[in-house]
Amino acid sequence: MSAPAMQSLAAHLDALAAKPLGPELARTVAALTRAAVTVHATIRAGTVPDLTATDTAANASGETQKPLDVFADETFLAAARTAPVSVYGSEEQELPVPSGDGPLAMAIDPLDGSSNIETNIAVGTIFSLFAAGDAPDPAEVFRRSGTEQLAAGFFIYGAQLLLVLTFGAGTDVFIHDPQADEFRHHARCTIPARAGEYSVNAANRRHWPTGMLAYVDGLEQGAEGPRQRDFGMRYAGSLVADGYRILQRGGIFIYPADARKAYARGRLRQLYEANPIAFCIEQAGGAATDTRRRLLDLPPTTLHAKVPLAFGSRDEVEVLATYMQGE
Ligand code: AHG
Ligand code: MN
Ligand code: MN
Ligand code: MN
Repeated sequence: MSAPAMQSLAAHLDALAAKPLGPELARTVAALTRAAVTVHATIRAGTVPDLTATDTAANASGETQKPLDVFADETFLAAARTAPVSVYGSEEQELPVPSGDGPLAMAIDPLDGSSNIETNIAVGTIFSLFAAGDAPDPAEVFRRSGTEQLAAGFFIYGAQLLLVLTFGAGTDVFIHDPQADEFRHHARCTIPARAGEYSVNAANRRHWPTGMLAYVDGLEQGAEGPRQRDFGMRYAGSLVADGYRILQRGGIFIYPADARKAYARGRLRQLYEANPIAFCIEQAGGAATDTRRRLLDLPPTTLHAKVPLAFGSRDEVEVLATYMQGE
């Protein structure tokens, strides 16, 4: 029996027609895919002005803006202007950018994993779409909890150009076929409840809260410790790469709040990193928290607000929460 024909993304988007704001969401995701193909081609060819330059400005999070950060931001902003998106909130823009008429707002990390650009490790783009509402102040638009997202997903610029996407009815993966220049359905994600791997930046251990130290010690003690089984450790340094691995085979990713002033609320930004990843993870049967509470319930405060983040296999995220209750 031949393999079922892989449904095109276009057909998947057409199915949204009857959904509230479905046509607008479909047009916006289609515009995002065209921008992603451009960014992926640029990375692959190494043609953006000096991919490895680092002497550029800092962004609102105080992080160095690399030329590819800026190129990706310009490319996705241009895409948002062709879509029914009225407000564009980006890691690389201090303030929300009015992007034309339309009922949607977009929060975006145009290039995730910037520290990996010059190492050819997979990087990506993370996006979140929700109703712009009629708030006169664009900044008001972004004071929304993650449960108000209408769609979220991320592109991975690796050996494959992939799109992970959810509209709240499961999480699917699409793969770009460069010959046909179209995205086709690649997989439906279901995260195993039991984790075999954890994903943390262990160099930050001395900054971690007590509960996090006790939890990770238990994992590192493996079969000889309280967990009575061995675990593996994987950390890519690109949230999209760690997130996709966990969507594929389970595990737990943790970037906790730590003692450093700049990371008192962790490192990852709620609106354009944590919320969209959490939406995709939950829709694949996993869990996402601020290491203690469900992440999607937490109202953000500002566009660049940071939040501690843990996500992955549901059972493991719950074990972490028991260690973190007192924090
Ligand atoms: P970005 O490149 O968009 O600023 O995001 C980088 C993030 C995320 O991709 C990754 O999980 C995390 O930074 C890695 O942080 P550390 O280098 O501190 O571990
Ligand atoms: Mn950054
Ligand atoms: Mn990022
Ligand atoms: Mn980024």
